[in-house]
Amino acid sequence: MVKKNTCIFISGKGSNLKNLINKSRDYNFPINIKLVISNNVNAEGIKYAKKNSIPFMYINTRVRNFEYRIIEELKKRKISLICLAGYMKILSNKFIKLFKNNIINIHPSLLPKFKGLNTFARVLKEKEIKTGCTVHFVNEKLDGGKIITQKKFFLKPNDKESDLKIKTQKLEYLAFPEAIIKLYRKG
Ligand code: GAR
Repeated sequence: MVKKNTCIFISGKGSNLKNLINKSRDYNFPINIKLVISNNVNAEGIKYAKKNSIPFMYINTRVRNFEYRIIEELKKRKISLICLAGYMKILSNKFIKLFKNNIINIHPSLLPKFKGLNTFARVLKEKEIKTGCTVHFVNEKLDGGKIITQKKFFLKPNDKESDLKIKTQKLEYLAFPEAIIKLYRKG
């Protein structure tokens, strides 16, 4: 199998990055992680890139033309899939167009419900009976692209934000790899 060269964008803890690195070791998993990009120099997740000798790039989003630097790097490494794994910045429309259908994102809610930030607090406030996570294509609308995979669970009466986060992330570790396999499945 020819694996797709993939770049993972992160901003924080990087537990989804860690999970995808582990999955990518599998001979049959369709991606190789060739680059990790973080907009946060202190992102904990950087350690997983270092530990696994994956090239890593810190990008200062306050610098003009920072996306140009990203694009150069992605081209140099022949990246054909971008996974946003807890990347908390918004990409420009120009960037999204350039990699159309090749950027996917994981979001901690059952989209189209609870786009944007603070999803767990909003889920509790709205007294939802279920929640979960979504992997979707990235388009110009925030958290609005076509859905690839969703996984859900039912809330328990005493669930707090921290419980929802733990339960959602557990499902994310299943959903992200599953979505990637789905993308490249033949037929
Ligand atoms: C994940 O739960 C992901 O769904 C969320 O950030 C977390 C990153 O965790 N993404 C968003 O909220 C995007 N709007 P991680 O750094 O441990 O993978």
